[in-house]
This record gives sequence, structure tokens and C-alpha cells, in this order.
Amino acid sequence: MQWDTIIFATGNEGKLREIRMIMEDLGVRVQSLKEAGITIEVEENGTTFEENAVMKAKAIMELTGQVVLADDSGLEVDALNKEPGVYSARYMGYDTSYHVKNQTILERLEGKTGEERSARFVCVIAAALPDGRVLTTRGTMEGQIGYEEKGEHGFGYDPIFYLPDDGCYSAELSLEQKNQLSHRGKALRLMKEELKKLKEA
Ligand code: IMP
Repeated sequence: MQWDTIIFATGNEGKLREIRMIMEDLGVRVQSLKEAGITIEVEENGTTFEENAVMKAKAIMELTGQVVLADDSGLEVDALNKEPGVYSARYMGYDTSYHVKNQTILERLEGKTGEERSARFVCVIAAALPDGRVLTTRGTMEGQIGYEEKGEHGFGYDPIFYLPDDGCYSAELSLEQKNQLSHRGKALRLMKEELKKLKEA
């Protein structure tokens, strides 16, 4: 199998920087979709993070014949039946600002306290190999929905995601701190270990 280059199916520069940092010691080049010359968008119409990540990785692997990684992530709020879940980016519409989405979640949790506000960020990384094998790894970051929006870093739902063990909101973490703790960092590090085993086999 060709291991000199793997493609990470994303157009997001922040995610690329993170995966390149984590995969550095694997000794492979990580290409973005753009660098691989791919412009198609794969529809994410699955009902689980695993389904969506696998769908994306397989579609790009079939186009390129390379090892392809893809991710899917989102926020699960237990008191809201794990919403917004796989619909996190689409929650209330793609064009709705995260300030409005975050305020809506805070309103929907009114009257709930402490553990009743439990939530987690989930990330699934899928790898599709040219020989047809598919692997997935999953990372989570556990926390609670806070009572306000706080912090200037991060993106999306970070300003309402409170980390009780660290005593701060996710948007108050620096990028380095977030990568250490985050669902995506955890799933990527697990995937790196899986790829190492395959590469050495
Ligand atoms: P996707 O995995 O790029 O499709 O993103 C899913 C959505 O989940 C994002 O658009 C955000 O709304 C949310 N999300 C995923 N990870 C994070 C995070 O680390 N912080 C804040 N929001 C996140």
C-alpha cells in the first residue's frame, strides 16, 4: 500500500494544521482535498458520526486510490436527546450565527442545573484504505453546557461548553490546550496508532 501520502478529506485549514501536527511522526505527507485536486463535496446524510465519516473517506478513496481520512463531529446535549448531534453544523440552518444557536441551547436548558446540563463533543475519524478496509476511531470531550457564552478562542459551540475539571469554558482554552483535550485530538491520536500498526505490518 502507498504510505507516502494520505489525504485528509477536509477544506478546513484549522483541522489540517491539527492533523499535521499530530501525524508528524508517522512519516507521511498529509494532503488536503484541494492539494489532491479534488473539488467534489460528499453529502453527509448519515444518522451517526461513524456513517458520515466513513461515507466521506470512502468516496474520496474511490476517486484517488489513496489512503483517505475523514472526520465528523458535533455536540451532544443529554437533556436535549443528544441534539444537535450529527446535525451540529446544520442546527437552525447553516446561515444562523453561532451566537443565536448558542443562545437557543442556553434557553432550552433553562431550569436545569449541574449534571442535568451534561454534554460532550464527539469526533469520529474514519480511514478508508485502497484495499477496501475501513477503520474508525472515536474521541469525546465531556463537559456541561454553561450558563452564558464565554471566551474568545475556538469556534462553534465552544463559548457555551464548560469543562468542570478545568473550571473554564472551551472557548477560553488556547489552541494547544484544546488540542490536548479535544475530541478531535483524541480521535486523531487513536487513528495514528492504528495507522502505525498497519504501516508496520
Ligand atoms: P464537522 O465535523 O466539520 O461537520 O462539524 C460539525 C459541527 O460540530 C461544527 O460545525 C460545530 O458546530 C460543531 N463542533 C464540532 N467540533 C467542535 C468544537 O471543537 N467546538 C465547537 N463546535 C464544534
